[in-house]
Amino acid sequence: MYVGSQRIAIVKPETARSFRVVAENAPTALKIANLGAPQVSRLGEKVLSDWVSQAIDMINADALAIHLNPAQEVFQPEGEPWFRGVLDKLRFIKKIANRPLIVKEVGNGISMEVAKLLATKVSPDAIDVAGTGGTSFIRIESIRAGTTDEANVYSGWGIPTALSICEVRSVYNGVVIASGGIRSGLDGAKAIAIGANAFSMSRPLLLAALKGYDETRKFIGKLLREFKIAMFLTGSRNVDELSKAPVVFGPTIISWLSQRNIPCKHIRRFA
Ligand SMILES: Cc1cc2nc3c(=O)[nH]c(=O)nc-3n(C[C@H](O)[C@H](O)[C@H](O)COP(=O)(O)O)c2cc1C
Repeated sequence: MYVGSQRIAIVKPETARSFRVVAENAPTALKIANLGAPQVSRLGEKVLSDWVSQAIDMINADALAIHLNPAQEVFQPEGEPWFRGVLDKLRFIKKIANRPLIVKEVGNGISMEVAKLLATKVSPDAIDVAGTGGTSFIRIESIRAGTTDEANVYSGWGIPTALSICEVRSVYNGVVIASGGIRSGLDGAKAIAIGANAFSMSRPLLLAALKGYDETRKFIGKLLREFKIAMFLTGSRNVDELSKAPVVFGPTIISWLSQRNIPCKHIRRFA
């Protein structure tokens, strides 16, 4: 379980309670702390260390995620599009966090070039592609800001999740998490077959959670069944076998991969 950006809880400690409930109510779940790249890139090392430990301690986190969200910041009314020096800050966080580091997007995808920079300069433990196809912060923020014309121009911006998995996997040997528009266990199974190690989703779970505990439990059960059916039908005894299941790409993906010089065979067999 990722939590949302914890900046608010650090700046306004009276709001930290809404994060602490995660540690209190989900002691055995995998919990992932979360901070934004624009904020961490502007902090000096001493304050940054303090933010990182506060974020981790607040939810008793097993891992720490830093989100890269340039498109969101551009459209956000109170946006902070500050990314200068972010790679150095990520490298510093990796050194001090004492937890696995996940670098993620928020719905516009991570490119091969960014993944290569991350792999060589930061060496994160995981990259969550969070590609386009699901929740769009360009839309959300522009509706809040009342600038829907610009958002319409940029509504298609980003790298679709399936392609972002291929892009990242072609240059990065760590854990790849698929997210952005994953809506069923079958979507998750496909993501794993083309190179992701795990998948996650936000919107559908939030919608279920709004209806309550039983609905959320039911949704997760359905998701797992859908995932297992895909494994059964492809003859995959475990997730590792699913990751080697035969895959056929449609023309859009083939064209994208060829323009980006990513050999299809290379993707799934990379690790
Ligand atoms: C209401 C909402 C709030 C979000 N807040 C954050 C956030 O604070 N930090 C973050 O890294 N991602 C955040 N995300 C982005 C998700 O992590 C995910 O990348 C994105 O929603 C795409 O997945 P989806 O299509 O399944 O929703 C948020 C998503 C939603 C729906």
